[in-house]
Amino acid sequence: MSNLAIDIKNRREELGLTVKEMADSIGLSKDGDRVLRLWESGNGRPDKRVFRRIMSFADNRPFAKEVAAPTFKFIDLFAGIGGIRIPFQEQGGQCVFTSEWDRFAQKTYQMNFGGEIYGDITEVNISEDIPDFDILLGGFPCQPFSQAGLHKGFADTRGTLFFNIEEIIAEKRPKAFLLENVKQLKGHDHGRTYKVIEEHLKNLDYTVSSAVLRAGDFGVPQNRERIYIVGFDRERFNLPKDYQFAFPVPPKTPTRLGDILEKNVDPKYTISEKLYEGHKRRKEEHKKKGNGFGFSLFNEDSEYTNTLSARYYKDGSEILIDQGENKRPRKLTPRECARLQGFPESFIIPVSDTRAYKQFGNSVAVPVIRAIAKNMINTLEDLENSNV
Ligand SMILES: C[S@@+](CC[C@H](N)C(=O)[O-])C[C@H]1O[C@@H](n2cnc3c(N)ncnc32)[C@H](O)[C@@H]1O
Repeated sequence: MSNLAIDIKNRREELGLTVKEMADSIGLSKDGDRVLRLWESGNGRPDKRVFRRIMSFADNRPFAKEVAAPTFKFIDLFAGIGGIRIPFQEQGGQCVFTSEWDRFAQKTYQMNFGGEIYGDITEVNISEDIPDFDILLGGFPCQPFSQAGLHKGFADTRGTLFFNIEEIIAEKRPKAFLLENVKQLKGHDHGRTYKVIEEHLKNLDYTVSSAVLRAGDFGVPQNRERIYIVGFDRERFNLPKDYQFAFPVPPKTPTRLGDILEKNVDPKYTISEKLYEGHKRRKEEHKKKGNGFGFSLFNEDSEYTNTLSARYYKDGSEILIDQGENKRPRKLTPRECARLQGFPESFIIPVSDTRAYKQFGNSVAVPVIRAIAKNMINTLEDLENSNV
């Protein structure tokens, strides 16, 4: 086998990637995994440019920054691919514990941040596994609570992932927390779910403030609304019961989809004839029933897209890019999804396209978190100064 074939295979194995993951990561066209397999077995070779791309792919961890003198420490729960972590790190914080159990999300996280990742948070031994920290971060999955009433202790939330957050806050007493969830959390189970969460956090003697913020108001062309819940330790900072955190005021900078679209997009992202026909048929059926559902087309002049969801990989119907009359529409590329969520360009995407769509759909709009992180850190500074 040629040296080149061995180099390619070694590089991929060093990174712990499957052939499919490597092929998608370096942007090979449809059937790229088959082509890569041929190169690895010495049948054919990539051109110089592609070879360089393979050898330099993920050769450093762009967000592995060890902060020399961190001004605060935080933990990243339900970490996904670290969208909440990036802005807190930018603010001078150091991540001292991460939990995420999906092994593909772990792969992306590892390649960008490095460090250890704890798996299932329900298995954690808080005092042994989690070091002391100042801020708890968590975009946790929304689950209903048991029918037991409000004003109960832990028993009421046990069995839900919120319970694990609650327990960690109770034991470690961080200075603050930021929780993120879908906007519908407030109305979930007739408002009961949110009420239990708020009540339980207040019972731990934390302030609780929430706001629904829209990604599109923070500079990314996406109509994504999420609820953010921020709290501070009332006891430590001697805060009044009705204390409210000042969420950032949305800058409402104009957005345009064209600003995040790639110039030369591989034809593999154009949807198939069969899928397009299916989309058109369903849209027509919806129209007849008088509702507006169905696929949505956008172009470079669109102000923003629909919300990117974790199911985008299935058929892309929520965001399709118009390619003119003579061409079927296309899906966003994984890099465009990263941009739609405001991830930095240096963010490495080391998984297959399907996984990447899921991961970005599950993630957060980084600029919204950035604005919240700034306000939280400023608030903490003010609170610490007024308590000396
Ligand atoms: C809504 S996503 C959060 C995404 C994250 N904010 C980001 O920026 O990518 C929730 C994450 O929680 C993870 N998760 C769910 N249950 C878990 C558990 N028991 N232990 C650890 N992670 C869990 C899921 O795999 C998923 O990645």
